[in-house]
Amino acid sequence: MRAEKLISPYIKTDTEITLMEKAGRIVAEVHMLLSKYIKPGIKTIELDQIAEDYILSKNARPAFKGYIVDKRKYPNTLCISIDEEVVHGIPSERQLEEGQIVSIDCGVEKDGYYGDSAVSFPVGKISLEKQKLLEVTEQALYEGISQAIQGNKIYDISRAIQNYVEKHGFSVTRELVGHGIGKSLHEEPPVPNFVPLLLHRNRYPNVKLINGMALAIEPMVHMGAKEVITKKDYWTVCTADKSPAAHFEHTIIVNNNKPLILTMRD
Ligand code: MF3
Ligand code: CO
Repeated sequence: MRAEKLISPYIKTDTEITLMEKAGRIVAEVHMLLSKYIKPGIKTIELDQIAEDYILSKNARPAFKGYIVDKRKYPNTLCISIDEEVVHGIPSERQLEEGQIVSIDCGVEKDGYYGDSAVSFPVGKISLEKQKLLEVTEQALYEGISQAIQGNKIYDISRAIQNYVEKHGFSVTRELVGHGIGKSLHEEPPVPNFVPLLLHRNRYPNVKLINGMALAIEPMVHMGAKEVITKKDYWTVCTADKSPAAHFEHTIIVNNNKPLILTMRD
């Protein structure tokens, strides 16, 4: 997300958590379904259609379709980002190719509550270094989630992700961050994947974590340098050095020492 358009953070009731669980489950099911279709030759617009049909069949709504950022409506159900594309790639007639990594981000609204999750998949056989990038990014997500416990603060999540990624020689995106989630796709607080510089700390308040907070934690990791550019389509964010990137995201609830992962796949 981009760090505007946020509403106050709030603590979800058990009833709300149950509703979020339903939205999160549909998101997880979309990823499990799509994993069967990730092969060389499939067009990214075909993946988008499969996801949209599935979400509608569950009486839910694709949360990204029509979502407005900077006065522009996002046109599709999924964001599909390939290799040096970090996030917000728009589905198209482009076909997947052997050796690529493809990041798929999906948001669902069901009965007024949201779930949001991203997964990066290998297309066929990929290089060892791309495999490492996928493993480190997914593990960075779990390192962050493990810090999402009552009594900790947002920067504990941020620090765990950043340290894990940088220890492995990769870098985290600075321009995009995780977010609170619930009755909106994007709520307070922002969840950066890096500990903000002193000068930027008012943009990312180090909020204390309380049981019942719902967060979308989403490390975006580059094999090379941290800088990004946005393509002329106004959406697709790419690494500036064209190095490959990966993105994993879960929607979680802070719950004592064990965060609930609402978008867990089987
Ligand atoms: N998961 C991304 C985020 O939280 C999603 C989408 S942006 C949209 O920013 F504009 F495409 F909806
Ligand atoms: Co998100």
